[in-house]
Order: sequence, then C-alpha cells, then structure tokens
Amino acid sequence: MVSVAEMAMSNPPAARYGRESSDECLLICRRCEPPIRRWNNSVRRCAAPPGITPIFPAGFTYLGQFIDHDITLDTTGLGEQIADPTAVLNFRSPKLDLDSIYGRGPVADPQLYQRLNASRMQIGRTNTQSIGKPSMKPNLPFDLPRGPQGLAIIGDPRNDENLIVAQTHLAMLRFHNKVAQQVEQGNVVIVRSVFEDARELVQWHYQWVVLHDFVRRLVGDAVLSDVLENGRKFYRFEEQSEFGEPYMPLEFSVAAYRMGHSMVREIYDYNDVFNDHGGVTPANLVLLFRFSGLSSNEPDPVKFARDIPIPSDWIIDWNRFFDTNGPAANPSLLLDPLIANRLHQLNNIPASESASLAVRNLQRSLKMGLPSAQDVAGFMGLPLLSEAQLTSDADGQKLKELQLPLKTPLWYYILKEAQQQQGGKRLGAVGARIVAEVFVGMLQGDPNSFLSRNPGWRPTLGAANFGMAELLKFAGDLDPVRDPNNIS
Ligand code: HEM
Repeated sequence: MVSVAEMAMSNPPAARYGRESSDECLLICRRCEPPIRRWNNSVRRCAAPPGITPIFPAGFTYLGQFIDHDITLDTTGLGEQIADPTAVLNFRSPKLDLDSIYGRGPVADPQLYQRLNASRMQIGRTNTQSIGKPSMKPNLPFDLPRGPQGLAIIGDPRNDENLIVAQTHLAMLRFHNKVAQQVEQGNVVIVRSVFEDARELVQWHYQWVVLHDFVRRLVGDAVLSDVLENGRKFYRFEEQSEFGEPYMPLEFSVAAYRMGHSMVREIYDYNDVFNDHGGVTPANLVLLFRFSGLSSNEPDPVKFARDIPIPSDWIIDWNRFFDTNGPAANPSLLLDPLIANRLHQLNNIPASESASLAVRNLQRSLKMGLPSAQDVAGFMGLPLLSEAQLTSDADGQKLKELQLPLKTPLWYYILKEAQQQQGGKRLGAVGARIVAEVFVGMLQGDPNSFLSRNPGWRPTLGAANFGMAELLKFAGDLDPVRDPNNIS
C-alpha cells in the first residue's frame, strides 16, 4: 500500500501580471521526498507535436468537465470517513440528462428559469468593466445568472469553477433557449409542452454529441463500436446494482475519467482581446479562475465585483475552442502523466487538505480503496503495459523508485497507457474500455435517453455529422467580442 502519493512541481509561476509560466509539471508519485522538485522546461506540450492533428480542440476539455459535473457529485471532503465506498449515496444518479442545467425543472427550481416565460432558462449579463477592450458594450447576455454575491445560480455550482466551463454551461443555456424558441414558433410539433419538448430535444442532441463527438474521439471508433454492437462486458449494472440501475463505478469517476486533468492547458488563445499574438495577455489558468464566482479567491468585494459578473471582453470566442470554422486555435494537451503547473495550486481548498489536483486524485483513490491498475487490467483480461513502457521517462523512473510498477495507481496508469499505446491522442486499452462501457451503459440504463427510446434517432437541428461545433452554431453568437452589435 502506498503511504502518500505526491508529485514533483515545476518552478513557481513567473511573476509578471497575467502571464504565467506555461510549463507543466511532471506527475510523480513520491514516498518520502520533499514535495517540491524542480523540473526543467525541456518537456513542453502546449501545441500538438508536428505532424499530429490534434483530436481534441481545447473546448472538449471543458465539455468533458461539464459532462463530469452532469453525471457525478461527490460531497465528501478528503478527510472524511468513506461511509459509502460504492458511492451509491454520495454520487448523483449517473445520467446524461443535463440536471446541471435544468435542476429539478421549472416548478421545483424556478430560480433557474425566466419568470415571465418558464420554458426559457435564465441568462446572466456582463458587467461594465471591460478594461481590455473598453469599447465593448456592458450588460451583454453572456454570463451565468448570478445572485447578489456573484455566485452563479445554476443547477451545479461546480460549473462556475473556471471561466471556460462556465461559458460552456452558458452555451448550453443559450442552446436550450434557441431550441425553445423554435418549438414556440411552431418549427417543431408540440407533443407535451414547449419546455418538455425543448428539453428532450436538447438532451438528445447533447447525448449524441457526448457519445459520437466526445467519447468516440476519446476511446476511438473500434472500442465504441464494439461496445455498442457487441454489448458491455464489465459494466453490467443490470446484475451488479441492487435495483438493476446504472451506478457510478469508482474506476471511472476516481481514475479513468479524471484523464481530463491532463488535457488542461496553462494558457489559451481565448478571444480577440486575450491571446498571445497582439492581445492584452493570453488567458491563463490564474485568470480563468479569477473570472469565475466559485474559484476566485479575491477577498476585496470591490475588486471581486470588477471581475464577476464577467466583463464583456471576457466572453469566449468559440471558434478558437472547437472546429466551427476550420481548425481551432487551441488543441487540448495530449493525454500523459503531466498536468498543468497551476493545477497544483487550486484555490479555496481547506488548509488541512492538499491543493494539488494530482495529490487529491491519488489520495482519493487510496481512500476509496481503488484496485491497482494491474488488478483491473487482469480482471478485464486486457494487455498490461510492459515494465519498460511503465517506467519510461522521468515519471516512470519515479514509479520504479517507489516500487509501484506492479501495483500502479489506476489514474496514473490510465494516463501512461494513453501516452504509450496511443501517443496521447486517445485512451489506451483499459481506460478506453472503462470509459466507453460507462457512457454507453449510462445511456442504455436511462429510460428517457435517445438510445433507449429511439436507437435509430439522428440529430435534427444541424448537419448530419452533428457535433459540439454544430451545437454551438445552432445556439449562435460564436464570437460576441467581435460582433459589431456589441461594440459602441
Ligand atoms: C481546470 C480544470 C479542472 C479543475 C480545476 C478540476 C478540479 C477538480 C477537483 C478539485 C476535483 C475534486 C478532487 C477531489 O477532491 O477528489 C475534481 C474531480 C473530478 N474531475 Fe476535475 N477539474 C478540471 C477539469 C476536469 C476535466 C477536463 C475532467 C474530465 C474530462 C475532469 C474530471 C473530473 C472527475 C471525473 C472528477 C471526480 C468526480 C468529481 O468530483 O467531479 N475534471 N476536479
């Protein structure tokens, strides 16, 4: 059993305002070493290596986080006893039903809906403080709805954790309102009510995007097709859970699906104002946390109000995050055992707990008693990485030093496997099988999903190859910062 898992940290961020070092850290499990070890800049992965077409434009990283919040909610602190190791009680029922958007619906959660038209979602407005582009008009409808303290009024507060996931949540609110408008205008035959029909259309299009745009990229065509056509072999909730309902496997929520932490970039080409080619400054993680209600650690209420609601010049340009208009400007980082420097310094974490996301992931898996990667791969009958593969590079050497190549933490292994088997472009054998089975199972186990109700259904709101880019195009306003209507 590992006592503590730690990682090495790179140099502290450069001191220049708004411009952090873009170096990432080497994730290393450590037993009795000082927590800080320097890592030089020789390993850099901000852009995809030459010749590699990035499979994931960076918007998928935050769509991935948004999806995580749709299907999981773990309310236990790291220090608490694990009273519910199978996570039946503490995790929200795993459904891709957008309850993070809709809450419990307009009757039980009226604060999420427009008072005079409850078939539409509430949208928030930007503030008057566009310092980067003072010509931006204020009060534009491009922020999350917020209460008097600036905190978002949304179905899951975690979607205000950083600015890009918050703008992803906003895009889904705007998508719903566009669909509701179409239903109201009679472009879709009303079967139940404007709200119910719009919600179902939105849920099914979203489920399609998750399965065929996101999961397909993440696990590859072969694995997804195999699970869809030949069935699930391991996530057999029909027999495994008490009531035959989908549950949230810890191997997924505590390890495999946390792969997204490795995709997060330190710096983004965010919009016309915040980028590193002539803009004020690129959007780095410090700023992306600062301009979000949940993660901002600004104690001064006046300064806080300058950032939240967001200024108009901090509205995202989606063309830079998805392939709406040719290749997106930002690729996600490749999957490997490296995470962004800043993710070792999360804001607003209790002093008694680690603020490093990597440490939290590894501690969480220890506390939950997660099996080792070797046990999981053995159970699944899937090929293991060789010792040479597992111990390659400096992180692998650290693993060796810790005597973990035969008992490897599953989260670390999933990332190493993706790197070694797929060049970081998608998940490897164990990770892909876990992720594909759980997503397909969640949809098959939800009696209201398109896969249960009408498996032959195809998207109706856009092109035949409907994906996240098409969803955003349908919602409209891909780049409000350059829209002349928003500039005075
Ligand atoms: C800047 C981006 C992100 C930040 C700051 C972040 C932060 C966190 C934090 C603090 C936790 C709880 C850790 C614990 O105490 O166990 C967590 C959990 C998790 N994260 Fe992330 N995360 C980010 C992006 C992502 C992405 C892109 C994915 C997947 C595509 C993801 C998937 C998960 C999953 C599955 C969990 C466990 C379930 C949950 O608590 O939500 N995260 N993340």
